[in-house]
Amino acid sequence: GIPKYVKIVEVGPRDGLQNEKNVVPTSVKVELIRRLVSSGLSVVEATSFVSPKWVPQLADAKDVMEAVRNVEGARLPVLTPNLKGFEAAVAAGAKEVAIFASASESFSKSNINCSIEESLARYRAVAQAAKKLSIPVRGYVSCVVGCPVEGAISPSKVAHVAKELHDMGCFEISLGDTIGVGTPVKAQGAPSCGPEHYSAKLRLGARPRHSSFVIAGTQRPTCGIRVKTELPCEVVLLDKALGPNVQTGNVLPLLEAVMAVVPVEKLAVHFHDTYGQSLPNILVSLQMGISTVDSSIAGLGGCPYAKGASGNVATEDVVYMLHGLGVKTNVDIWKLLQAGEFISKYLGRPSGSKTAIALSRV
Ligand code: HMG
Ligand code: MG
Repeated sequence: GIPKYVKIVEVGPRDGLQNEKNVVPTSVKVELIRRLVSSGLSVVEATSFVSPKWVPQLADAKDVMEAVRNVEGARLPVLTPNLKGFEAAVAAGAKEVAIFASASESFSKSNINCSIEESLARYRAVAQAAKKLSIPVRGYVSCVVGCPVEGAISPSKVAHVAKELHDMGCFEISLGDTIGVGTPVKAQGAPSCGPEHYSAKLRLGARPRHSSFVIAGTQRPTCGIRVKTELPCEVVLLDKALGPNVQTGNVLPLLEAVMAVVPVEKLAVHFHDTYGQSLPNILVSLQMGISTVDSSIAGLGGCPYAKGASGNVATEDVVYMLHGLGVKTNVDIWKLLQAGEFISKYLGRPSGSKTAIALSRV
């Protein structure tokens, strides 16, 4: 059976807004957080204490946190990539933090500028400092199904990082399909990964050109090798940097691998909706016993360092599905819709939530 109650972790003000090109005023961010809290959400990720050079949109983290630190009714965690961020977060009034590692070496490098092991060492320092202050720490693992550079990521890599985060004291581990490529289950007899699509510079005969193609089987191309594709000619991969951009992996084997090392009560799922797979993936996760789901108001979101990463699954759509399944969330969907309308109006574009669009026509 599926859980009777699901805790939603609203990540819109952080994951949602971090990818917005135009800087959103602090007052709008604060108002959004207030509205989200008043809809009944019990956790609203407020901002990130990261380098303003890396994420200019959240350069006002201190001002946002100081404005909402006394808001009651919800926990307001913030992202902290290192001790510097942790100390700034605590000084601004944060009572809960999140650290974010990756299951992909390449993504770790491009997102936080260090290797996975280096990041874990940094995070151990943050976790120790937090423990001294009795501040709960959430851990994220990103690229749990696929990486924009490396392609498919094996469940064992994810399980390793999840266990490390759990061992250092994280009370919850959120598994992030950063680029939204995952699908729910592995069909009997299906290969462990679907066809991998590549977009690359090819040598077709004598002249190099750009094209996209599907690599046959499970071969992993490297520069200069001849690859078998569906194209009726020899293809030589010239530019690995343009490498794999789509790959599928399955959520079920991933959850099985992680649940073998971290108790299911401590796991959360974090799906980006790039390929429209979030709701089926969430349903499978619920069936596996997971009862914490991350989502973003109006489907805002993405990650500035993951090309092609679109918004997180919309909170309105998750709440609609959960209530339809008879699962309690304590969220007032009408107030939630108003919060979504507020930010969509400010951003000047339609909501990324199907539920919001459908109900706005009623
Ligand atoms: P770095 O350049 O290697 O760091 O960045 P550094 O230690 O060399 O410092 C460089 C400069 O940044 C220095 O300033 C530091 O003081 C400053 P300068 O001397 O040049 O003036 N700095 C800071 N400033 C403010 N707050 C800090 C901080 N740390 C250093 N905490 C670093 C390394 C980790 C800082 C950087 O790469 C960074 O900030 N990365 C964050 C990227 C990010 O926020 N990505 C999005 C969040 S992750 C995500 O979205 C995935 C998730 O949603 C799950 C999923 O979807 O899968 C969680
Ligand atoms: Mg995310």
